[in-house]
Amino acid sequence: MAKYPKFLIEHFQNPKNLGEIPDADGVGTVGNATCGDIMQMFIKVNGEKITEASFKTFGCGAAIATSSILTERIKGATLDEALKISEETSMEVLSQLPKEKIPCFTLAKDALRLAIDEYRCKLEGFHEKGGFDSEEFEKD
Ligand code: FES
Repeated sequence: MAKYPKFLIEHFQNPKNLGEIPDADGVGTVGNATCGDIMQMFIKVNGEKITEASFKTFGCGAAIATSSILTERIKGATLDEALKISEETSMEVLSQLPKEKIPCFTLAKDALRLAIDEYRCKLEGFHEKGGFDSEEFEKD
């Protein structure tokens, strides 16, 4: 059986920021093609700063622990800082996870990137699904 570092076990046993943010500014949803699990990341943003972050997943313990860590670290960060934190956390966590669990962390990282992309698209007048917001287009 794989050995996990203590901080990962603590986040798995007592996950932080679990659940949905109903009025989230950005939501990212990704699936793990290997196991079929799903991850959703929610962010609330004020200007460029992430004020709240949470997640929901049908994933394993590694996915829960790494999402808990990531959502804790990005609160209060700007969107660009959050992407950097996500990369730094990858380097830290991935070196301590068994190889077969690497896609589990990647879920959280990819879901965060999509949540940020969705927020930025909304700001720029693009529709949530990636199309152009026709109402905004007609106003111009
Ligand atoms: Fe599915 Fe980890 S095994 S997310």
